[in-house]
Amino acid sequence: MKLPFLSLLVAMSKNRVIGKNNQLPWHLPEDLKHFKALTMGHPIIMGRKTYESIGKVLPGRTNIIVTRQKNYVIPSAIVVDSIQSAFAAGLEENSAKNEAFVIGGEEIFHQALTFSQRIYLTEIQKTFDGDTFFPALNSQEWREAERTIHFSEGIEQLEYHLVILDRKTPSST
Ligand SMILES: NC(=O)c1ccc[n+]([C@@H]2O[C@H](COP(=O)([O-])OP(=O)(O)OC[C@H]3O[C@@H](n4cnc5c(N)ncnc54)[C@H](OP(=O)(O)O)[C@@H]3O)[C@@H](O)[C@H]2O)c1
Repeated sequence: MKLPFLSLLVAMSKNRVIGKNNQLPWHLPEDLKHFKALTMGHPIIMGRKTYESIGKVLPGRTNIIVTRQKNYVIPSAIVVDSIQSAFAAGLEENSAKNEAFVIGGEEIFHQALTFSQRIYLTEIQKTFDGDTFFPALNSQEWREAERTIHFSEGIEQLEYHLVILDRKTPSST
């Protein structure tokens, strides 16, 4: 299978929660801006539940939605019935920057992890209650390339870290 340069993009809490009741459990507008800046102009691959949680096609990006449902049609999005077809669509629709983003949720992250080269991880330094989680990572496979520390505006002042993890290559291990 020929793959685009695949990156996972995720925000998770200290206890690896990514969602609750098909929503994000936190209010972190700064992370939504980060998400937009990274993905603009690139293909984004998501599960049907994540698409329905967002509630609309995100503009300026090729939205690729994965579902097993026949006749699931979303105008101005590409709907595919397997993760492999999502990667193929991501490759075909790829921008000059050659990067497609897998944006969740849990089911899709699990399936895409082994095919991905990079993870953009927002680590929220607080535990949250939730029902969907980001998979545990094997430290033998991933190298932390970057970490910056931030605090959200507003009353809560959540501490969050923007982390980039790159897949280790034989020469970087
Ligand atoms: N914090 C974050 O960064 C972040 C990012 C994204 C999402 N989330 C959260 O994650 C939660 C959603 O995650 P989730 O795991 O429940 O759902 P999901 O991964 O978004 O979507 C699951 C759906 O994708 C389809 N699917 C999965 N694998 C497939 C395959 N191999 N072939 C065809 N279709 C496939 C199925 O759709 P059908 O049932 O239609 O067949 C399945 O029900 C929400 O709470 C959301 O807010 C968080």
